[in-house]
Amino acid sequence: MPARDVEARFNALNAFLIEHQGLWKPRPFTHLHLPWETVHPALAQWLRQRSLAEAEASHNTPHELPAPAPFPQLAEHAQRLSAVDKLPARALETARHRLNVDVPGRKWQQIEAFGAALQFAQPPTHWLDWCAGKGHLGRRLLQPGQQLTCLEYDPALIAAGQALSDHHGLPVTHRLQDVMADVALNPEHTPVALHACGDLHVRLLQLASAAGCKRLALAPCCYNRINADSYQPLSGAGRASHLQLSIEDLGLPLSETVTAGNRVRQQRDTSMARRLGFDRLQRELRGCDDYLPTPSLPANWLDKPFADYCRELASLKGLSTGAQDWATLEAHGWRRLAEVRNLELVRGLFRRPLEMWLVLDRALFLSEQGYKVEIGSFCDATLTPRNIMVLAERD
Ligand SMILES: C[S@@+](CC[C@H](N)C(=O)[O-])C[C@H]1O[C@@H](n2cnc3c(N)ncnc32)[C@H](O)[C@@H]1O
Repeated sequence: MPARDVEARFNALNAFLIEHQGLWKPRPFTHLHLPWETVHPALAQWLRQRSLAEAEASHNTPHELPAPAPFPQLAEHAQRLSAVDKLPARALETARHRLNVDVPGRKWQQIEAFGAALQFAQPPTHWLDWCAGKGHLGRRLLQPGQQLTCLEYDPALIAAGQALSDHHGLPVTHRLQDVMADVALNPEHTPVALHACGDLHVRLLQLASAAGCKRLALAPCCYNRINADSYQPLSGAGRASHLQLSIEDLGLPLSETVTAGNRVRQQRDTSMARRLGFDRLQRELRGCDDYLPTPSLPANWLDKPFADYCRELASLKGLSTGAQDWATLEAHGWRRLAEVRNLELVRGLFRRPLEMWLVLDRALFLSEQGYKVEIGSFCDATLTPRNIMVLAERD
């Protein structure tokens, strides 16, 4: 996206997200009835009668759903506002022999795509792999005559990364560094961050621009992993916006998933259906029609009979269950799950617009710091849903 379009796009997204926040902020999982259902009863009813399998099939492509108004109109608007071009890809230098050993296949493809989309007017001299893990990205980018420093705070990853760099005979410095602490950056560094979470990549933008780095690139992820209670906008336009984003709201862009395997899906569904069955029970037991947050539970809780699951969860919350019709409650949980997952498709329309709003807030911040900024996708969403890249360069 050309720089001049960024602010206009941000403002349009901002207006769209604010106007429709009643549709995407309330979570069907915690609300038995969503406030928007009285405004759009035909849409609500249409979604509520669909099956769990139908919801699953539409999860990553909600905009294709032939649902009643205003769904198609919203879908079209959302897609238009969040469209980004794929960044032009250059042919990467051939990777050194066996450089991808120890890198999961999908991660390696992401690294290759990230590297191919990295284009700067001036070639970098010193790569800085930010939250590098074992430094696979940095090593893939490193060319003769360049330096590479990998910053990471997990000693085991530092050791494993150093061993890999030594094995390949590459002059890489793997530095044990908490990037939230003081980090010495200099103008010659070209930071790259592939999938650094919330605060970690925001920290990079702030430090790199203050240190005079001439170029940097990042693919953000986990916008909800922040220390603050709510989103702290970075750019002037972001700060001027009336859009308030809670940590829960910031999780919305992450709800798109690369298709999970059958076993994982079955486990996730069972866990959610049980929680929804328990939700019905706790509302009755407490005589209070509100969702009751429950702690995350070890996976082996799913092996317990449903009655034991509920009894033990209830006792964790200081409730006593008494005799219940467990089979009916359990079936109710599964029915609710189908409704929840279908109603979620409305929120799904806003995943990408919200992500674009967050990315553009970062891009506008970098523009304010004097960078020329490019935004685009660096790979297909099937490889990773976090496929947006921000490239920034300044004199
Ligand atoms: C999602 S992983 C991304 C790793 C790598 N860039 C990749 O794409 O495979 C995030 C990495 O950040 C590291 N990390 C988390 N918090 C950190 C901090 N405060 N300082 C430095 N590294 C951190 C984690 O240990 C992890 O290796």
